Amino acid sequence: MVKIAIVGVGTVGESVANILEQNRDLIDARAGKELKVVKGVVRDLSKKRDVNIPLTNDIDEVLNDNEIDIIVELMGGVEEPYNVVKKALQNGKAVVTANKALLAYHRYDLQKIAGDLPIGYEASVAGGIPIINALKVGLSANQIVAIKGIINGTCNYMLTKMINEGVEFDAILKEAQNLGYAEADPTFDIGGFDAAHKLLILASIAYGIDSKPEDILIEGIENINSYDIEFAKEFGYSIKLLAIAKKIGENIELRVHPVLIKSSQMISKIDGVMNGISVIGDFVGETLYYGAGAGGNATASAVVSDIVEIVRAGQSSPMLGFKKPFKSENLKILPTDEIQTKYYLRVDVKDEKGVLAKISKTLGDNNISIDTFLQKHIGNEEAILLFSTHNCFEKEIKKAINEIEKYDFINQKVSMIRIED
Ligand code: NAP
Ligand code: HSE
Repeated sequence: MVKIAIVGVGTVGESVANILEQNRDLIDARAGKELKVVKGVVRDLSKKRDVNIPLTNDIDEVLNDNEIDIIVELMGGVEEPYNVVKKALQNGKAVVTANKALLAYHRYDLQKIAGDLPIGYEASVAGGIPIINALKVGLSANQIVAIKGIINGTCNYMLTKMINEGVEFDAILKEAQNLGYAEADPTFDIGGFDAAHKLLILASIAYGIDSKPEDILIEGIENINSYDIEFAKEFGYSIKLLAIAKKIGENIELRVHPVLIKSSQMISKIDGVMNGISVIGDFVGETLYYGAGAGGNATASAVVSDIVEIVRAGQSSPMLGFKKPFKSENLKILPTDEIQTKYYLRVDVKDEKGVLAKISKTLGDNNISIDTFLQKHIGNEEAILLFSTHNCFEKEIKKAINEIEKYDFINQKVSMIRIED
């Protein structure tokens, strides 16, 4: 019998315990052994929970129990779970985690500590979609040319409802929290950090690159408003929070931010809590992955798949997919200023003579050519000017915005969204 302890019996932990109970015969047959959750660890023993497993609030009770084979870490956080996972590995236990924040900071430390002990983390990226396995195993023959993904279910759920139903930001965030999609601190979702954590994990498997959230461009969806949505609808775009990894020569572009993306593109049709990831390999071409990106059951499905694989095969491949170092030390993260794309600008101005001419000139002076333009009036004195541009460098658009914001007729900071073709 394989004995399992679940550290953190919340949204995901409860579902893991329930899947292992409900599908016990099938899962035991697939694993080739009987699997049993012998203990769940929580903070508050008095909370009502929908599980049939003995609970404790003492983590050491499971970490020091020699009978326990696998620790499933589902508590959230960074340093506290790091210490839990480290101790579990040091005590010879296999580990499964869904914790992308932990992995964004400590994946290489944990790989080192684990040695030959297995660490499963399929649930850490894109909930129920087996994207880790796809990259680590299925696409291992390929140089990864690009990864583009909607990998935060909360943001995608919120943007879909804001665009399709006009629901207000705060109300829809509460709904996503009630549905169990959001992180304990939802600023991780709406600020783009959760998607960035996931992107860094994917980038490690794809490129062998060890980078931290601080190293990459991360923007969230907090500033998207109804004018952006109107512009998107008028010009045939959808708005998505996109995580992008691209290999360009010896540079890797790693960024997370909202994008305007043409409604005809497949990825723009991924709505609600669904996640979608496009991975382009040099030999396989484009491959696409789609499924529920958050929520207890979808995430627990991936957690249980890791448990089954560990029981079946142990550590069948190295944690981050490389058995020996790759010449990734040559790869550099492309500086943000060097990003080249199209941009959308929302400029809130006093409705006066010459305003449009001055803004157009400033853009032109910075080598930026306007593609489309839309104007919305608020009363008699205020106007919202909405522009999209042709391709230019990030440093050029930033300089132009900086200059535009200095004009007296500007009412508030210029808002910018990148356009992804
Ligand atoms: P959650 O509902 O907040 O559950 C966290 C659980 O951990 C709770 O049972 C909590 O105990 C327990 N816990 C927290 N700190 C603890 C401590 N110091 N000692 C003992 N127990 C502790 O979170 P969740 O949504 O299940 O997420 C769990 C992990 O999965 C996170 O890393 C999250 O990022 C990741 N994840 C979540 C989803 C999702 O859709 N929810 C998807 C993918 C990955 P109490 O119940 O007593 O407070
Ligand atoms: N909060 C995360 C999301 C959970 O919304 O995508 C899944 O990782």
